[in-house]
Amino acid sequence: MGPAPAPTHSAITLQVNGEKYTLSVDHRTTLLDALRERLDLTGTKKGCDQGQCGACTVLLDGRRAVSCLQLAVAAEGREITTIEGLADGERLHPVQQAFLDLDGYQCGYCTPGQICSAVAVIEEHAAGWPSAATDDVRPEAGPPELTAEEIRERMSGNLCRCGAYVSIVQAVARAAGAEEAAV
Ligand code: FES
Ligand code: FES
Repeated sequence: MGPAPAPTHSAITLQVNGEKYTLSVDHRTTLLDALRERLDLTGTKKGCDQGQCGACTVLLDGRRAVSCLQLAVAAEGREITTIEGLADGERLHPVQQAFLDLDGYQCGYCTPGQICSAVAVIEEHAAGWPSAATDDVRPEAGPPELTAEEIRERMSGNLCRCGAYVSIVQAVARAAGAEEAAV
């Protein structure tokens, strides 16, 4: 008799939008599939399922991550925020409100990922993180102006098949209070 087969499932607890969920998952289950198919949180979208489109973007401990490339078992112990967790009751998150006010979408499929990314982009910028579009990356130069070029670069991991990019950039700029810089 050979060794007992290795277990293929584990019981995990995921903390999503402030709620704890305990579930048994196949070790190969992605966080995206766990969110959508096990927890019924279908706001997070599946586009490419291989890390290229950004539709599945969520926040892990406040940092953006593509959930199709994250195993659910590896997300245990992390604070997961999805599009469903951004609003404060009936009050939309400022980034959601800006997308709504400025039509930062057409079909809406990429929008949850765009909004989750934008939330993190604004925080990354406020923390002084440079991007590939930043001219002067010396710490003493301070945070770069959040120009349209900066926003486009920082949001470049989120594709929009409808091509709503102009409105998306405007919405991110408005939510960041950087409309003048992004004109
Ligand atoms: S579905 Fe995850 S990046 Fe496209
Ligand atoms: S709004 Fe349709 S894919 Fe972006």
